[in-house]
Amino acid sequence: MPRIIIAIDGYSSCGKSTLAKELARHLGYRYIDTGAMYRAVTLYFLRNHIDIHHPELINDALQHITIDFRLNNDTHQQDTYLNGENIEHEIRVNQRVAGQVSDVSAISEVRRFLVKQQQALGNEKGIVMDGRDIGTVVFPQAELKLFVTADPKVRAQRRLDELTSKGQNTTYDEVLANLTKRDHIDTTRDDSPLKQADDAVLLDNTLLNREEQFKLALDIINQKIKATA
Ligand code: DC
Repeated sequence: MPRIIIAIDGYSSCGKSTLAKELARHLGYRYIDTGAMYRAVTLYFLRNHIDIHHPELINDALQHITIDFRLNNDTHQQDTYLNGENIEHEIRVNQRVAGQVSDVSAISEVRRFLVKQQQALGNEKGIVMDGRDIGTVVFPQAELKLFVTADPKVRAQRRLDELTSKGQNTTYDEVLANLTKRDHIDTTRDDSPLKQADDAVLLDNTLLNREEQFKLALDIINQKIKATA
């Protein structure tokens, strides 16, 4: 069977990373979480007090950033490393990272820097990559593109449940406000805004549970792989 590139884009907290991970595991493909790369850059900028309004400071800072993914033997998932340090936990729970990452990912210099690395990772076929611009910018030639969405109220409730289960103290209204703000920045920025590629398959999971979504996506992928063979 031919190995293909699967590009998964969509709104924040719509379950695309969970879907992408499950698909990669099932197919024996590599999974790349590009959101983690934008979060890693944001963490570096915060730690080093980089003023994001100065392109020359940004370009200089980017030269000092190396990001890679390494398998965690306990969780069997890939952890994100920034300059050799495991930052997986910090980029998920640090609220300053969550608050800044949409602004950092709107910077063209940052996007050029990360897109180049993402494209290099895709030189080997057999990859599932998720983000906001994978089907439109990173791999416009991807054999299969999925655009995942769900009702914002459903996304906010799912995210609240996730944060609460991790012991974070927050409210539905706060979560919904954060999601709405991120959606707005991601879809209206000048460089590579989030949008559905013309040839992407729309997957609205508002009324689907995790398993139903996985089965639906897998059916679409298997048809595509057969057609590519
Ligand atoms: O998927 P995530 O929530 O971890 O992404 C964090 C932020 O990074 C999100 O606000 C949008 C941005 N992002 C992006 O602009 N392009 C990507 N390919 C992936 C993420």
